[in-house]
Amino acid sequence: MHLSYRCCAALFAALCLFVFGQGRIVARLPIESEAYSPVRARHGMVASSDEIASRVGVEILKRGGNAVDAAVAVGLALSVTWPEAGNLGGGGFMIVHTANGINVAIDYREVAPSRAHRTVFLDEGGNVIPNASTVGYRAVAVPGTVAGLSLALEKYGTMKWKELVEPARVLASRGFIVSHPLSQELRNASKLLLNFSETRHSFLKEGRPYSEGETFKQPELAKTLRRLQEEGPREFYEGETARLIAQDMSTNGGLITLEDLKEYKAALREPLHGTYRGFDIITMPPPSSGGIALLEMLNILENYDLSHMGHSSSEKYHLMIEAMRRSFADRAEFLGDPDFVRLPLAGLISKQYAREVSGTIDSQKATPSARVGHGTPGTYEPRQTTHYTVVDGMGNAVSNTYTLNGRFGSGVTVRGGGFLLNNEMDDFVSKAGTANTYGLIQGETNAIVGKKRPASSMTPTILLKDGRLILALGSQGGPTIITQVLQVLINIIDHKMNLQQAVNAPRLHHQWLPDIVNYEPYGLARDVVDALSAKGHRFGYFADDMMYMGDVESVMVEPGTATLLGASDPRNPGARAVGY
Ligand code: DON
Repeated sequence: MHLSYRCCAALFAALCLFVFGQGRIVARLPIESEAYSPVRARHGMVASSDEIASRVGVEILKRGGNAVDAAVAVGLALSVTWPEAGNLGGGGFMIVHTANGINVAIDYREVAPSRAHRTVFLDEGGNVIPNASTVGYRAVAVPGTVAGLSLALEKYGTMKWKELVEPARVLASRGFIVSHPLSQELRNASKLLLNFSETRHSFLKEGRPYSEGETFKQPELAKTLRRLQEEGPREFYEGETARLIAQDMSTNGGLITLEDLKEYKAALREPLHGTYRGFDIITMPPPSSGGIALLEMLNILENYDLSHMGHSSSEKYHLMIEAMRRSFADRAEFLGDPDFVRLPLAGLISKQYAREVSGTIDSQKATPSARVGHGTPGTYEPRQTTHYTVVDGMGNAVSNTYTLNGRFGSGVTVRGGGFLLNNEMDDFVSKAGTANTYGLIQGETNAIVGKKRPASSMTPTILLKDGRLILALGSQGGPTIITQVLQVLINIIDHKMNLQQAVNAPRLHHQWLPDIVNYEPYGLARDVVDALSAKGHRFGYFADDMMYMGDVESVMVEPGTATLLGASDPRNPGARAVGY
């Protein structure tokens, strides 16, 4: 008689139940080792929100490019194949770790046009003009992506800019087959896309969203990419593309000028360095709040034995929510562009400050956010994003998060340029005390000033042990990015999950205000919700699209074998880790 594997397993389980009792069987089921396995490869791995872009990156690695070369090609390819967030007209943050031990942060965040000012989104009565900071020309900040990718290449890449633009140009010119997730995204955003004639022309097919299986060509974008290829990355800021952007802005009441574009520069910054239970965490410094908030939360949680509490216990979730609440209160108070405001960076990420903050947490009761202000962290010292991670066989790694901010950004496509522009101005504070799209209430430090970078939550992060690369990760999702990265790290370090399990596990989020725990459907057991409610936590959803949080794209180096493990987030069905 032939017995299937499942049948044998069931018989074995029944036998164990009989012999050992239920508790032991659970421990013997192959959950830990076999379920939710990451993708494995020896030579290189790319995890991104779109399979075509991941394959572009792997092709570059196969041709001998390093992780930075591949990351540049992936970023440009995503601007074609994942236009809701992949971009030329947005900005972001990159962490590079090189095989010879350099860790560096590249800040290519957008900047406010020089004519922007703190009341630019207010009417005469001082009220916020609805949608002014999110839709249309005024919502756009000066884009940083082309400058950021080219700076990464110039400093740490090996291949020619021209060669790395080519795959994106070919995809834009010949077109590619629209996947189911992309068709859904285009359909969901069609109201915004219909708003602007150039966007309708570039991103819709005769006024309707492309369907799965149709070919999507972007001839104007292909021409822009050709110009970038032939004249180099500064063309975007000083050539025909800059002229097209400035022209479009002046015709439509936007603020960006040729001068703003010409002056844009990406910046190399020292990444933040923290530790968590013996691992080194390399993460993004301001103007992103991501690294500071992540390290503050990890430092607080290091004071507790989370592993012993168990992954899904109310005891652990209570502490985690309280840590989130407190670090987001600090985020609101202190975060802003370090070129414009002084922030207590060293204090915020110090272990001593975290111990003080931990001392304010009541293990039995939630502290209402209304009673949680920012801390005093020592002395001062001088909605749609996409993340991808690339690791090559030599041990170089890139963790990159970039964005147009909202899905399809401001909705504006540059006339004749074929690419969308961001709505990053909404990441500033439009008016003190009012929330932005992500419900964030932020302080004076993030007020609008011309040429200033808005505070961000993007958290590209790298984990090292004794100087060697263990993991690179990041995500999309506005403020939830920070808490997602936190939870994946804790799942791996405290709960010993494999990478895919750690990414798949349900997530929750708290950001101080609103004073609500956002959690994923089926993410918490009823009795855990009851136990947390009894401590005073309140649950709800900030918005429909915050039900499922994020799109963590990550690559790990398997301890002991050095095999590369790639994990994409099942929350984005189009995302794929591809290795070779
Ligand atoms: O920089 C930020 O924090 C936001 N602009 C990120 C936006 C985002 O992640 C949207 N994704 N869902």
